[in-house]
Amino acid sequence: MKKIQISPSILSADFSQLGKEIKKLEDAGADMIHVDVMDGHFVPNLTIGPPVIEALKKNSSLPFDVHLMISPVHKYIESYSNAGADIITIHPEATDNLSDSINKIKKLKKKVGISLNPETKVEVVEKFLNQVDLILIMSVHPGFGGQKFMPEVLEKVKKLDKIRKNLKFHFDIEIDGGINFENYKLAIESGVDILVSGTTIFKSNDGDIKKNIDLLKSI
Ligand code: DX5
Ligand code: ZN
Repeated sequence: MKKIQISPSILSADFSQLGKEIKKLEDAGADMIHVDVMDGHFVPNLTIGPPVIEALKKNSSLPFDVHLMISPVHKYIESYSNAGADIITIHPEATDNLSDSINKIKKLKKKVGISLNPETKVEVVEKFLNQVDLILIMSVHPGFGGQKFMPEVLEKVKKLDKIRKNLKFHFDIEIDGGINFENYKLAIESGVDILVSGTTIFKSNDGDIKKNIDLLKSI
């Protein structure tokens, strides 16, 4: 039975108490912290950057799963690595040379992820699947928390799961956007290993983070 990992998105956390919120996630059994970095250019929203990540990293022993929704992304990879990112996930549309950006993340000894927007096909990354640690499937259009889950992206999850089984690749499949108690089992059955969730974890059951994480881990 595969172990499902939970990567809560701090986009839905109280931004005035981020250090305390991350501690709460750690105490509640989160496996990693999903940090949504947005630049107001690649996506129509702006969040946090390396200085904040560096400060938060000092408060947590959990891996930081950093989702870079920024472009151009290549020239900023090193600063997110230095700030403490453990997984660096980029969007193929945000770099002129995906292979160079993947190699740069690997050279920095960080785990490398590629994120596919709802409209981005698996074929865009197929030739890199043997080089990456993570494929992040967006089940919403990136930019905001609290959006509605797009079930059609599960076809990409199933396709990726089939490829990695047939070719014995090691990458994990993570899903991000609109995950709730009604759809998380379908995502896992399709092949997802890591669930990103912001709204469901921070807002459901009167904000009982531990209960919400436990529920997402129960299959
Ligand atoms: C959207 C972000 C997601 C989002 C998930 O661009 O990448 O991580 O915050 O939040 P919920 O779970 O609220 O959809
Ligand atoms: Zn994200």
